[in-house]
Parts: sequence; structure tokens; C-alpha cells
Amino acid sequence: MIPSPHIVESKLPNVGTTIFTVMSAMAAEHNAINLSQGYPDFPVSAQLIDLVRHYMMTDHNQYAPMPGVAVLRQQIANKLNDNLEFNFDADREITVTAGATEGLFATITALVQKGDEVIIFDPAYDAYAPAVQLSGGTPVHLELQLPHFTINWGQLEAVISHRTKVIVINNPNNPAGSILSVEDFQRLSDLVVRHDLMLISDEVYEHMVYHPQGHQSILKFPELRARGVAIYSFGKTFHATGWKVGYCVAPEALTKELRRVHQFLTFSVNTPIQMALADFLRDPEHYQSLSALFQKKRDLFLELMKKSRFEPLPCKGTYFQLMKYHAISDLPDTEMASWMTKEHGVASIPTSVFYNRKTDQKILRFCFAKKPETLTQAAEKLCKI
Ligand SMILES: Cc1ncc(COP(=O)(O)O)c(C=O)c1O
Repeated sequence: MIPSPHIVESKLPNVGTTIFTVMSAMAAEHNAINLSQGYPDFPVSAQLIDLVRHYMMTDHNQYAPMPGVAVLRQQIANKLNDNLEFNFDADREITVTAGATEGLFATITALVQKGDEVIIFDPAYDAYAPAVQLSGGTPVHLELQLPHFTINWGQLEAVISHRTKVIVINNPNNPAGSILSVEDFQRLSDLVVRHDLMLISDEVYEHMVYHPQGHQSILKFPELRARGVAIYSFGKTFHATGWKVGYCVAPEALTKELRRVHQFLTFSVNTPIQMALADFLRDPEHYQSLSALFQKKRDLFLELMKKSRFEPLPCKGTYFQLMKYHAISDLPDTEMASWMTKEHGVASIPTSVFYNRKTDQKILRFCFAKKPETLTQAAEKLCKI
């Protein structure tokens, strides 16, 4: 061990190892089927891998431009323009980042000043609050309301103060599996204008929506588009979470600021994968087919679980299915997840970890982005509990 002469004062004293790492390690140790962490167990497209190989072999291995490879930014703009009937500017409004995680961190660091308050809806993905705290801001947590994880608009108005700077939304929501309605966006537009707020919209599950209204982006709504940063992940979209490539879409002034941070976080993202993604995006089938693919997996998992004592909650988006376990146990959800991993061989995520107040509603999150045989084996074990 290296002797440590100085006491390091933690900037994030309450942050431990994330639950995703903990549960995946527990799953490996106990040889359990891992439905905890959000990643697929099926392969990336062979065509996409061939494209990466091609660009590596043809000498595209040096630094990419800081905002991202131009052809990729143009393909992203084309995709957005086709879907949203707007004219996004690839040079001024799109920035390629090292996954959505870096996009979120760069955006939050750029926007949040000391003393600012940032509204976060719980249950929330765990990357938002620490980034706000590192910038000297205060996360203000508001719980979404069961059974459909809806925003309580009265409560939202009540927590807005002169310090409120940003609202973070995650649509579709991990872990809730909920989506915001068009009416929600209209109310949000009115609210951000009235209170002069900015918006960060985490839309990494944009291609996993199982509701007829489809994915609603902030980029569709003029007031939100003008005040917001929308953040996406190619890792989620193309089953390659280990590649860590994502992007941010924002008006020029916001883009300028988030690039100032991005420049010193990573400077740029690996070149051959950006080149490959640019080619792959030319065929819209590669992403338009995803909601059907994941809906099939969700439906298979739900069908298999019909014989179990778990009670599913509605899943309108993402690749996560929430399950209540009231009928089985009154253990706290963290203990339940750990017991199920060790004794029954299936790992899940307890949802209390997504709440600032660790609200325990006896609900577990299962990732269904898995091969049919994985889901079948997991459900067999779960049905015996
Ligand atoms: C809601 C949400 N946002 C962001 C991310 C991070 O995305 P990336 O892997 O592209 O950094 C995840 C990953 O699980 C997520 O669930």
C-alpha cells in the first residue's frame, strides 16, 4: 500500500459505489442471472463492428475534432430534422460526447453556478445530483406520483424559488418506465417561460417507447428547445453501452458553454466509432426497428412472469420492468434484491436507491434487454419465489 500522508476531503462524501456495480458484482459472485444493470446480453450489429474495423484499418485513429466528427454531427442533424421537422445546425447545435454521462456532466457543469437550485424528479438516474453538487448547486428532489409516476404540478410550482435555475427530466424514465405526455410538455413550456428556467432532458431511451404517442422530445416544443439541452446515447440505441458515445443537442449559446467544459473533460470522443456511427445512421431502419424489438422482449417477460407472485407496473418506455413484491415479502427492497440474487439466482435493482429519501415502495427493477433464453431462465427462477 502507498502511505497516504494527507487526509483527502471528499467533495462527494455521501456517494458510494453505485448500486449497478454492487448488484452486478453480487450477480457474478453468486452466478446469478443479471437483470440488474441496464445493458443488453445480445451482440452489437456485425455491420457496425465491421464499419469500426474498417475505419481503424484505414487510419482513422487520431484525435477527432473537439465537437465531434463532422459527418457524424451531420447525420445526427439529418436524423433529427427528419423526425422533428426542424432544421438543426450540425456545427452550432450538436456536440458528440463520451456517452450521455459526459454530456450530462458537461451540461450541468456549464449551466449550474454556486447557489443555484436544480429540480430533479425522483426516482432519478444517479448521475444528476452529484454533478449539481460538484458545481456548488443544490439538488431539489420532487417525487413522481405512483401509480403512473406523474409530475405533481402544484408541488413543482411550490418548490420553484428565485434560486431555481434548471429542471432535469428523463423521458422515458429510468427506472420508472414512464413517459411524459404532450400535455406535460405543454405545461412544462408554460412553466419554464414563466419562471425563466432552463431544462436538461435525458432522452437516452428515445427508441424504446411502447405507447401510441411515441417518443416526445423537448426538441419538438419551441419554448423547451430554446431553453434546453437534450442528451442521447448511442450506447443505449445500438446495444453498445461499452463504447460510451452520445451527444447533446442545444441552442448555439448553450452549446458554446457545454463545449467549453467538454473541451477539458475529454476534448473529443474516439474517431473510428464516430465514423462508423455516421455510416450506420444512414439507414433509419437501424433505429426505427428498436421499439418493436424491445416491446417484444417486454411482452415476453410479462407473459413469463404471469405465473409469478410479482405484480408488474405499467412500462411505457425504457428497457426496464418494475415489479412489486408485496405478495411475497415485506423485506426492504435492498435486502430483497440481495436475497433474491444470493438465494434465487436473479439480480435486480431495488428502486429506493433512485430516491433521495430512499423511499421504499417494495418495487424492484428488472432489465429485459436480454436474449429470450435469458428472460425465460430468469422468469423460471422468479416464478418459484
Ligand atoms: C437515464 C440514463 N441516462 C444516462 C445514462 C448513461 O448513458 P451512457 O452509457 O451513454 O453514458 C443511462 C445509463 O444507464 C441512463 O439510464
